[in-house]
Amino acid sequence: MDDINQETIKELNETARQAVNHAQAKYSHFRVGAALLSDSGEIFRGSNVESSSYSLTLCAERVALVKALSEGTTRFKAISIYAEKMDFCPPCGACRQLLYDYAPELDVYLTNGTEFKKYSLRELLPHAFDDSQLKSL
Ligand code: THU
Repeated sequence: MDDINQETIKELNETARQAVNHAQAKYSHFRVGAALLSDSGEIFRGSNVESSSYSLTLCAERVALVKALSEGTTRFKAISIYAEKMDFCPPCGACRQLLYDYAPELDVYLTNGTEFKKYSLRELLPHAFDDSQLKSL
């Protein structure tokens, strides 16, 4: 993925930090925000949404992704993730898979509000399962 400029990285990280304010995390008290940057420069926010039936919980990253997809935006450059109680919170396995299904070239920024670490989604999910394996059947 082409690098995005420093100003955009800053905006994306700041948007993820702000998105944490809408987290619905009354069971874990672990509030997470995500900001997903589309190819056209639009930023979609997400926060985690928890359920009393715990396994129904949605992570911030997946909320941002499904918001964008369901509004018709399908191409993405980068996502930033911020967790209030942890520096550089990495995306869970389920989120890595779903992000990979829609944006395998995504860059992933983990921020603590002031600094960030950058990864490619491919390095976070090596040897990924994808639709090419379905097509080979
Ligand atoms: N969570 C996220 O939203 N994103 C992550 O990257 C890690 C975990 C949420 C899920 C759950 O609401 C809470 O954090 C604790 O696992």
